[in-house]
Amino acid sequence: MQAVPLVKTSILAGTVGVITGAGSGIGAAAVRCFAAAGAKAIYASDVVDRNLQAVADGVAQEGYETEVIGVKTDITKSDQVEELVRKVIAEHGRLDWFFANAGIVDFEVLSTTTPEALTRMLDVNVVGAFNSVQWAARGMMNTSDAKPTPGGSIIITTSLASTFGGMGAPAYTISKHAAVGLVRAAATNLGMANTGIRVNGVGPGPTATAIAQNNMQGASQDAMSALMEHAKAAGSNPAAMSAVAPPEYIAQTAVFLASDMAAGVNGENIIVDKGLRQKPDPFSGLMFNPSIEPL
Ligand SMILES: NC(=O)c1ccc[n+]([C@@H]2O[C@H](COP(=O)([O-])OP(=O)(O)OC[C@H]3O[C@@H](n4cnc5c(N)ncnc54)[C@H](O)[C@@H]3O)[C@@H](O)[C@H]2O)c1
Repeated sequence: MQAVPLVKTSILAGTVGVITGAGSGIGAAAVRCFAAAGAKAIYASDVVDRNLQAVADGVAQEGYETEVIGVKTDITKSDQVEELVRKVIAEHGRLDWFFANAGIVDFEVLSTTTPEALTRMLDVNVVGAFNSVQWAARGMMNTSDAKPTPGGSIIITTSLASTFGGMGAPAYTISKHAAVGLVRAAATNLGMANTGIRVNGVGPGPTATAIAQNNMQGASQDAMSALMEHAKAAGSNPAAMSAVAPPEYIAQTAVFLASDMAAGVNGENIIVDKGLRQKPDPFSGLMFNPSIEPL
């Protein structure tokens, strides 16, 4: 899928933040999108750091002045996330937004999901997101000459699979429902503490990234085929595979949530699925003709 052309804005002018999972997919697209919105510096972080230089070079080639700093971080390790946030504060004296986007997926059905696989899923998608929120909030409370007032915006990548049971495999679905719990709990806690920190989720529908290929080890082809067959049998899902969004659609929503334009949005989980959830079931076509005549 072609990279989506971006509209240059300045809604994040002067701001500094972190994107996790920035070496691939939605995270890599987010580096472009946050740069196009005028961010001063982006810490592009990933547990696999081999693509981070290319992501930074891409931003420079597109002519954005944003400084992109690649950092290798495993979000499941609290001390590594702490180190990342301390680096941001030491180098820029401010942390304005944190896009906790890194995550993994699997394709095991209920009967083939091992306790170890579920634990691993929760470790990355929930504990990793929790570590990100906790250290991001501490970093955002930091004030300096560069940022005299505490506050900021934390965005967690959830999923369409955070809203119902039929969109992903069980371990993944459980982890993304928990991610929404994290959004709500953190928004409430940080709101009641008057921190000026907002926490929201962005929930992608099927998105054109390498997430399946990046996570196929340990997940059998048979299990993946079984899941796809199940999705087809569910009736409302066959359209899912043709409704794939470019990763920039998700990333641009994260830019909005990071900016002051979303000042009133807190504790929400915004689904970005190109309307997939609103699609009628296959039988409703029998009942009405959705075409409309031109004037
Ligand atoms: N692609 C989709 O269809 C889709 C749909 C819904 C939600 N999501 C969510 O979007 C987010 C990004 O996924 P993507 O599609 O861009 O996948 P991706 O595999 O292209 O990118 C995910 C990145 O996260 C990194 N990562 C994995 N474990 C990590 C760890 N422990 N610490 C730090 N980084 C780690 C990977 O190295 C990878 O670069 C994930 O949270 C995923 O669950 C994706």
